[in-house]
Amino acid sequence: MKDRDADKHLAAAAAVREVCDDMLVGLGTGSTAAHAIAALAERNLRIETVATSLASARLAESLGLRVRDFAEVSRVDLAIDGADAIDARLYAVKGAGGAMLREKVVADAADRMIVIADGSKRVARLGGTPLPVEILPFAKSYVTARLKDFFVHMVERPDYRTDNGNIVIDGHGWDDSSLPTLADSLVAIPGIVGHGLFLREIDAAYIADNGIVTRLERGANPR
Ligand code: A5P
Repeated sequence: MKDRDADKHLAAAAAVREVCDDMLVGLGTGSTAAHAIAALAERNLRIETVATSLASARLAESLGLRVRDFAEVSRVDLAIDGADAIDARLYAVKGAGGAMLREKVVADAADRMIVIADGSKRVARLGGTPLPVEILPFAKSYVTARLKDFFVHMVERPDYRTDNGNIVIDGHGWDDSSLPTLADSLVAIPGIVGHGLFLREIDAAYIADNGIVTRLERGANPR
């Protein structure tokens, strides 16, 4: 039987080896990112961090890492984060933890963005994974009506608000044959403030499966 938590730890430990003194590091959100935060704290480097969620900021600070306010930061050296699903092109779905908007901002600001994951996250196609969409509460009904064009069914997360005060709807049953078109269509709907499709942000991935870590680099992977 696979030990997913051990694989998350291995992937995180491999990614954290890329961190050097004097870097500003973007901290992801979720159970795999938590392994990276712990591994980073253990290395005791001279670094600063920014966090993609209040939960990750709290964890990092509790482990002795210095966390800067991202509002005062315009670029990051390296971001390390988990994913819900990732394919061979390093296209990913993120946001099961609801932090996809801040995660995308920090990933975009980073010179290099690494996804860390256990082998269950590696998929041939992304369309089987629920796609989270962050929505301004004011626009909920309007956006939900528009989203019917893209999803077979949708589930609003009950009693949930993101760190930005917004709601999240998970879209199920979506067409993954033209991901850039879908991403462009979603951002074009007023009231959608973010979604979990990451198409150009990820530079590399460390994926651990049954104790073996594989590194994928954008543009260098066999299909
Ligand atoms: C957080 O919003 C997400 O994007 C996470 O990075 C993603 O859901 C992976 O989480 P786990 O590492 O907990 O599976």
